[in-house]
Amino acid sequence: MTQTDSTNQRFHDITSTPMNFTIHAPGRVNLLGEHTDYNGLPVLPMAIQKTITLEGAERNDRHIRAWALDVSPDPVEFDLEPTIPKHPQGHWINYVKAGIQGILDSLSLEEQKNLHGCDIVISGTIPLGVGLSSSSALVTGSALAFLETNRLPINRVPLAERMAAAEHYVGTRGGGMDQATCLLGQKGHALKIDFFPLRANPVPLPDSTTIVVCDSRVRAKKTENALRLYNLRAVECRFAAMLLRAFLQSKDIPSDFQRLGDLFNSPWNYTYEDLIRLIAEGIQDMYSYQEICDQLVDEDEIRCILTDYSFENEREFSSMRFACGKRFRHIVTDGMRVEQSAKILHEGNAAEFGRLMNQGQVSARDDFEISCPELDRLVELALEYGTLGARLTGAGFGGCTVNLVERTKADAFVQHMRQAYYPDSDPSDESIFTSEPGPGAVIKRHEV
Ligand code: GLA
Repeated sequence: MTQTDSTNQRFHDITSTPMNFTIHAPGRVNLLGEHTDYNGLPVLPMAIQKTITLEGAERNDRHIRAWALDVSPDPVEFDLEPTIPKHPQGHWINYVKAGIQGILDSLSLEEQKNLHGCDIVISGTIPLGVGLSSSSALVTGSALAFLETNRLPINRVPLAERMAAAEHYVGTRGGGMDQATCLLGQKGHALKIDFFPLRANPVPLPDSTTIVVCDSRVRAKKTENALRLYNLRAVECRFAAMLLRAFLQSKDIPSDFQRLGDLFNSPWNYTYEDLIRLIAEGIQDMYSYQEICDQLVDEDEIRCILTDYSFENEREFSSMRFACGKRFRHIVTDGMRVEQSAKILHEGNAAEFGRLMNQGQVSARDDFEISCPELDRLVELALEYGTLGARLTGAGFGGCTVNLVERTKADAFVQHMRQAYYPDSDPSDESIFTSEPGPGAVIKRHEV
């Protein structure tokens, strides 16, 4: 029996139907530009070679059955309807539902009537909950499975934009980097992604280097505390934008921008240097809740923003503090580092790119304050063992670091890091691994 036969057989044993398609949706690491995406500034991620795999079969009815065999031998089932009810927060099926709901929302009720459901068997190699975007891979992979089932066209750029919004269904409010990387990744390349509107351009990584990912083993699940911390950063950036608007207004400069990134466009056409100066002049490093209310006048809007990001306790508001100036300093300098990196990488300058990554780590640690002692320790060790650049990757508060390492030194680097940070691990332990930039989601149709 060939491997394909045995995979088909396994699928048939689970679902009692033949398999029609397989989707491999990759995870990602971000090389530079952290928390910049939702502020409209660029990022520099790459798809990794670890994927979530969704094997699927079309059904003749409007029912969905999904198996996550690592979790349970039984499927979770639901029907297609204009608004699919959610499972309790944190349940894996919500990620599948999010992807499908995202597609439904793009269609009229009339168009939705003709859609079919599917059976999906989910497995994968992306470690879960370590900040490598297994959740976005599942959301995006589920949307692709649903499109494939219904033979609907797959336009990757608009789909990536749609998936960023679709993931809000599960209660997180990320930007668009993860879904875009999952769909638009290119073998051998990082992507420079700009937002609003989404544009992704491949950036070659030097042949002489490879990427090593190290798990801090601090779990930064986007639930409870980590979700609150992520949301607090997003709130601080919203307030920082409002403060900047008030500052521009006081100088009779047009101030009707939404996100910081809009200021690169007409009528402002600001440069990064302009933004750094404006932020230094117009926004303090730290504000109390009362100061925010005094400066921004409309207390109702402020309360609305806080509740929108799940800060619900009125009494809690008065003790909150917002590091608006520092946060925007990180966003602007990291955006600038992404621009510089894209240029430098086209020239093949690995050492300079490494230096920018190191600066990105300092900025994420000191200005955006999303590092933690374990991530700092991994970075410190990596620098000691000869990485060209090391920094945390993704949302922060735990999760992984990403390291740019000369290919010829990669084995020794991994060995040293293993001994120093994971002394009890055996060689099969995947807390540290090397990855080349992989392709975006791959869809294979099987003729039955
Ligand atoms: C998470 C979000 C992304 C991005 C990163 C931080 O991964 O899903 O959109 O904001 O954090 O760069």
